[in-house]
Parts: sequence; C-alpha cells; structure tokens
Amino acid sequence: MRLFPKSLNLSENVFLLLRDLIHERTGVNYEDSKRDILAEKLLPRVSERGLESFLDYYYLLKYDTSASEEWKHVMDAIAVPETYFWREIDQIHALVNIIVPKYFKKHSEPLRIWSAACSTGEEPLSIAIALNEQNWFWKAPIEIYASDASRSAIAKACSGLYRERSFRALPPNIKEKYFHKENEAWRIAPEIHARIKWQTANLLDESEVRPLAKATVIFCRNVFIYFSEKTIRKTVNLFWECMPNPGYLFLGSSESLLKLNTEFELEEINGSFVYVKNKR
Ligand SMILES: C[S@@+](CC[C@H](N)C(=O)[O-])C[C@H]1O[C@@H](n2cnc3c(N)ncnc32)[C@H](O)[C@@H]1O
Repeated sequence: MRLFPKSLNLSENVFLLLRDLIHERTGVNYEDSKRDILAEKLLPRVSERGLESFLDYYYLLKYDTSASEEWKHVMDAIAVPETYFWREIDQIHALVNIIVPKYFKKHSEPLRIWSAACSTGEEPLSIAIALNEQNWFWKAPIEIYASDASRSAIAKACSGLYRERSFRALPPNIKEKYFHKENEAWRIAPEIHARIKWQTANLLDESEVRPLAKATVIFCRNVFIYFSEKTIRKTVNLFWECMPNPGYLFLGSSESLLKLNTEFELEEINGSFVYVKNKR
C-alpha cells in the first residue's frame, strides 16, 4: 500500500519552477499568493507517483519518459470544472438568431462551431439545444466540436449525465423537454448529445488547436481568467490565424481582449459582445 503524506512542503523555489512549467504547458497562471492551492492540487499526484518531494515531481514532468501521460493528470488536477446550462445565454441567442441566419444567407457549406474549454459539456449542449429550439439542425448543416484539456471533464461530458448543480439557470420547460431522470442524475436527450464531437485538446498545443480553430464560431469562455496575458495573446493570435473570415469569438463576460491589442474587433450583436475577425 502506498503511503499518502498529508502534507509536503512546496518551497518557494520549487513553486516557481512548477508554476512556470505549468504556465508554459497549459497557459494557467498561479500567482505568488496561490502557492498553497497549487500544492494542494498536486499533492495527490506526488503521492500517487510514489515521490518524496515536489522537486522530484517537477523533474518527472520535465524529463521523465512518462511525462506526457502525467500531464493529463495535471490538467485534471488543475481544472476548475465550474459550468452550467444556459450560462451567459444572451451570447448563444446572438449566435442562433443573428450569426447563424447571416451565415446561411451566404454559404451552403457546414457552419462549424467550437466550444474550446467546454469542461463537462454544459456549454456546447446549451448551444445544441438553442439551435434545436429554432429547428436549425433541420434547416442547415451545422457541426459542433467541443474540447477541454481535462480528460476527466470530457469523460463526464461523454457520459451525458448531469446533476442538479448544472441546472441552476436552465428554464424548467427546457429541462423537461431535453432531459430525463436517471437515478440521482439527469440524462441529456441522445440526439442532442450526438450532435457534438467531443475530444480533449490543450489550448497551448498548437497541433491540437489548429484543426479545431478552423471554426467560424469559437466559444472560449471562462478559461482566460486563469491565463496570463502572454498565453491569452498566444491563444487568440492562433485563433485569428486559423479562423475563416468573418469569424466570431465569444469570451466570458468577465474576460476582455481590449488591453491586449489583438486583431479582433469588439462588436455588439443583439446586446451581446463578440470579438469579430473581419478582414476587408
Ligand atoms: C470554468 S471552466 C469553463 C467552462 C465553460 N466554457 C463555461 O464558460 O461555463 C474552465 C475549463 O477550462 C479548462 N482549461 C484550463 N486550461 C486549459 C487549456 N490549456 N486548454 C483547454 N482547456 C483548459 C479547464 O479544464 C476547465 O474545464
């Protein structure tokens, strides 16, 4: 049986090494005041790997042959899977009522939508439900992709089962129509769940982002709050490069690109803010 140390000291020096490495690989930035939080999140991994110090764990992540597998556990450990159905729904209404009809006036090829840090799936499922409510799936070809760096979040999304916490903002009639109770949880209607192509993808991994960022519409909400300006800029510039013209990028309501001088222009569509790529 493995001994599980209740605590290990994460010294300031090792904290700096680990947090820089995590920042470089995942974009997530731990400020000086978050040393204890990072220690708490990584301690179970240090123990699981049978290591005696955070420094050994740093060396494992940096040099060990098993590092790439271990990074998947790091993504799970640092993920903040806070999300719910109908979150910031005005943006989804702007998509369904304005952007989608505008797109199909000019195009017959499929519209691609990507939920880029979808956590356990409530965001892309809300998009699919809202599109279905306006019969869009019968009127035009629409592809929805959803990804997250956390393998356990995507596994939950693939299961299609949700608990009460996810429903705090969903109107009861929509819940009734699209979910059925299964023991203590609720299952999303399989035909809506099947509209979404689920996968893991790290926003800092260019080879994983490039194919997904070809989408006309990207939802990348409530993940940049954990990133540094440097990694937000890097991610957004890659989106810009890969997205078609015009392209629409939705961020969370507390997130902004205004200070970063990117090429996206902020537009108000139907009362919601969206960053638009529109190169004339
Ligand atoms: C708070 S949730 C946001 C969920 C959803 N977009 C929303 O707004 O409700 C943040 C998610 O970002 C994911 N995340 C953090 N760093 C990431 C990265 N480098 N690449 C992809 N996803 C990442 C986390 O795993 C977590 O599931």
